[in-house]
Amino acid sequence: MDLFSSIEIPNSARQRVDELTRLIDHYNHAYYMEDTSLVSDFEFDALLRELINLEWQYPDLALPTSPTRRVGGEVNKTFRQVSHRFPMLSLGNTYSIEEIEDFEARTRKLLEDTPFTYTCELKYDGVAIALTYKAGQLVQALTRGNGSVGDDITSNARTIPTIPLQLKGHYPPDFEVRGEVVYPFEAFEAFNRQREADGEEPLANPRNAASGSLKLQDSAQCAKRKLQFCPYFLMLPSPSGDDSLNTHSDRIEALQQMGFRVLPYMLECHNIDEIKEYIAYWDIHRWDLPFATDGIVIKVNQTLLWERLGNTAKSPRWAIAFKFKAARVSTPLLSIDYQVGRTGIVTPVANMQPVPLGGTIVRRATLVNADNIAALGIHEGDHLFVEKGGEIIPKIVGVDVSQRLPSAAPVQFPDCCPVCGTPLLRAEGEAGLYCPNQDGCTPQILGRLEHFVGRKAMDIETLGPERIRLIYDAGLLHNVADFYDLRYEQLLALPTLQEKSASAIISSIQASTQVPFPRLLFALGIRYVGEVGAKKLARHFHDIDTLMAASVDELAAVEDVGNVTAAAIHDYFQQSLHRDIIQRLRNAGMQMQIPDSEMSAATLKGLTFVVSGVFSRFTRDGIKESVEQHGGRISSSLSAKTSYLLAGEKPGPEKVRKAESLGIPILSEEEYINLI
Ligand code: IVH
Repeated sequence: MDLFSSIEIPNSARQRVDELTRLIDHYNHAYYMEDTSLVSDFEFDALLRELINLEWQYPDLALPTSPTRRVGGEVNKTFRQVSHRFPMLSLGNTYSIEEIEDFEARTRKLLEDTPFTYTCELKYDGVAIALTYKAGQLVQALTRGNGSVGDDITSNARTIPTIPLQLKGHYPPDFEVRGEVVYPFEAFEAFNRQREADGEEPLANPRNAASGSLKLQDSAQCAKRKLQFCPYFLMLPSPSGDDSLNTHSDRIEALQQMGFRVLPYMLECHNIDEIKEYIAYWDIHRWDLPFATDGIVIKVNQTLLWERLGNTAKSPRWAIAFKFKAARVSTPLLSIDYQVGRTGIVTPVANMQPVPLGGTIVRRATLVNADNIAALGIHEGDHLFVEKGGEIIPKIVGVDVSQRLPSAAPVQFPDCCPVCGTPLLRAEGEAGLYCPNQDGCTPQILGRLEHFVGRKAMDIETLGPERIRLIYDAGLLHNVADFYDLRYEQLLALPTLQEKSASAIISSIQASTQVPFPRLLFALGIRYVGEVGAKKLARHFHDIDTLMAASVDELAAVEDVGNVTAAAIHDYFQQSLHRDIIQRLRNAGMQMQIPDSEMSAATLKGLTFVVSGVFSRFTRDGIKESVEQHGGRISSSLSAKTSYLLAGEKPGPEKVRKAESLGIPILSEEEYINLI
């Protein structure tokens, strides 16, 4: 039964929802389209929360175009594959100005005496998507996919503020807009900083990050990414039936009127010289833009001529892309730093003679690992070729051998840890060398301490890298158990720490004793044990003692735990120092087990479930986890012992048939939620 169907909606609620929607849309528009902030974050959040509450209370008032949709929350385990109404072609592209001249001459010849112009615009370096609007509302967003079939990423696209959910002014009843989703540098860098703080590898470039964001299963996560949409194409029939929409530039202008954010960089050009000028300008100034571009796109502006020019198999003849060459310089290598990370991996970083490259001065770049240095054949003092492509991180791509001095010797990767002197080892199958002195090598200790307090671990916000270093240098901190022995007076005695900070640190450390067991397990920083692995281990073994006593085989029996990880966990708990740390953490009152109440909130005890289909409120793993959390068992195949087939949308027909024939009840997602 629909719980709310009988609730009448008071007029006051209806009016307030309208009012809030209008206000929030207005503030959003000012913020994302005009870069002006009309209210404080606090006020804005209060309005949004009020609207979320009202829509929750009266679901009939929650429209698909409501600004609350931008917060996300829909979960997609898999993305539906959908055919494009019109194939998404790509563009012919070239790095050569001569080929642009050929394109221009060819186009002029094909169009003979017809007067026409070109538009030049930026080629955004992101992910192409196609948006469908019906009656002014966003109804679908597809990725390009293979050009014919793409992934339905509508719930993620809804979270991008520069994609209007409801259009303004005049718009065709049913049409498609295409454009590129980009990850602006500033947001991308902040995202990477957060990843590093969480102990994750930073992503190489904004394009990959944008692409990964659109494929996130949880749209609420996508909402946090601050992506931007740059429209470059309004698809209309030709002729469009509206004379004001028969040039590409007018169409883009029309998109702006409808509420899209259109950047002011498009230029109408009349001849090859103007096109060349545009290219030359952006080849230099692209580095001043807040997002990545990898070239420029030249289009015939008059859309009525597009049909005359036609398409090749893959791309239209009325457009071409000029791609910028990656900016490249050569600069002498001055020295190499060997940095030791939390896990002991030694990363070589080149210090080079500072040199301007693509808008910034490059001084340092990673040399990745010993194998890479050998593959590039780097010798002492070599001139290195450094490139900067669409990404912002410069890359060392080669050596200018012609500049090498005859006396130069090949770079020797150190045999011993540059910090503690321990001989380095190579882990089987890995390209990097590592220092095995886990508990005596300062950067490894500091790295582990920082990991322990991290957001996804113990989340001790008052402790950042500088404070940890300060306390470590004072000799008060050797391993993670020492956090819980720190006293207020000890902190106060340290330079730069005032009373307020000292007491905040002590109380946040104290508060962290309540952090649940799986996060504590992750916080320990056991090799190869990530956030998800820690959860699985905690749930499987229930408490630290059982986990510590487990054999390698027992560990490897846990879902997603391979032999290497199992051996690393086993090895970790064999070491007396680690056993001592665990004992001290236990004495400090940390959570060393999953509470029984959670383990056997045993509503589903004794029941076995088979899961099939797609769920709206859970990912597939999420619903399995939920069953287990409530004491139920998951099985992959149906048998007479199965209690329920838990079926989401589109369950496997075989499974449904078998369940019916065995007389096993089929449970919908709603029914399951009621059950728990
Ligand atoms: S027009 C039918 N304009 O580049 C032509 N594409 O190699 C439609 N791109 O798949 C494309 N910026 O993802 C066009 N200003 C721009 C663009 C642009 C980036 C991407 C787009 C396309 C690829 C072509």
